[in-house]
Amino acid sequence: MDVSIKTTDQIQKMRIAGRLAADVLEMISPHVQPGISTEELDRICHDYMINTQQTIPAPLNYNGFPKSICTSVNEVVCHGIPSAKKVLKEGDIINIDITVIKDGLHGDTSKMFHVGKPLQHAERLVNITQECLYKGIDIVKPGTTLGDIGDTIQRHAEANYYSVVREYCGHGIGEVFHESPQVLHYGKKGTGLELKEGMTFTIEPMLNAGKRHVKLNKQDGWTVSTKDHRLSAQWEHTMLVTHDGVEVFTARPDEPFYSS
Ligand code: MF3
Ligand code: CO
Ligand code: CO
Repeated sequence: MDVSIKTTDQIQKMRIAGRLAADVLEMISPHVQPGISTEELDRICHDYMINTQQTIPAPLNYNGFPKSICTSVNEVVCHGIPSAKKVLKEGDIINIDITVIKDGLHGDTSKMFHVGKPLQHAERLVNITQECLYKGIDIVKPGTTLGDIGDTIQRHAEANYYSVVREYCGHGIGEVFHESPQVLHYGKKGTGLELKEGMTFTIEPMLNAGKRHVKLNKQDGWTVSTKDHRLSAQWEHTMLVTHDGVEVFTARPDEPFYSS
């Protein structure tokens, strides 16, 4: 369980990859409307990554994943496979998860969208999940432990009567898509790995409106849904531990920690 410290050169390349991944989410945003299929969203993102950005969509063929992005609608927790049969409708929520490779380095980020006008109960789940990500990011600096991050996220989720998915977590990232450490979204303050300057990883909490339990679709081998079929939400950023805090590589211009 060796956690890599990135070089200045790797960090500069991850800044670029992170920005490009964030750009894909901004690009796709106006397309997320009632009537579009998740396969069309995949095609638009795929073409943009390949032709406009000259990036590689990391999910495509990753451990056999068949598409270029993940699209997780309503009760789908993560790893939803884009499909022509999945047409978005008014009131749906969808997570779009983008991972690009540029110059050999990865940028991984996801966000939630409301399809049409947000429903109040969905909006609350989506917003609290984003707050969990932000509260996790806020405490990242040398000396913070992974347990501190998990504890912070779990407390905010449970204080709001939501549950935290246990089976999937954030991860170290760089030249490798998923590397050490595992970044759990639950835990105990003061436990686990201590963060050091130069580490890069994702935080990507998944919160369920109901119980935390999930099930994997045995047909497609990928789609993870809530067992109780209630809504799930997720937000993700890729970040760097700096000498005194954090730099979020995948920040979008509308976010507090964005720097141009
Ligand atoms: N982007 C996802 C993550 O946040 C991983 C997707 S792997 C895939 O780690 F194969 F499903 F694409
Ligand atoms: Co990730
Ligand atoms: Co991701």
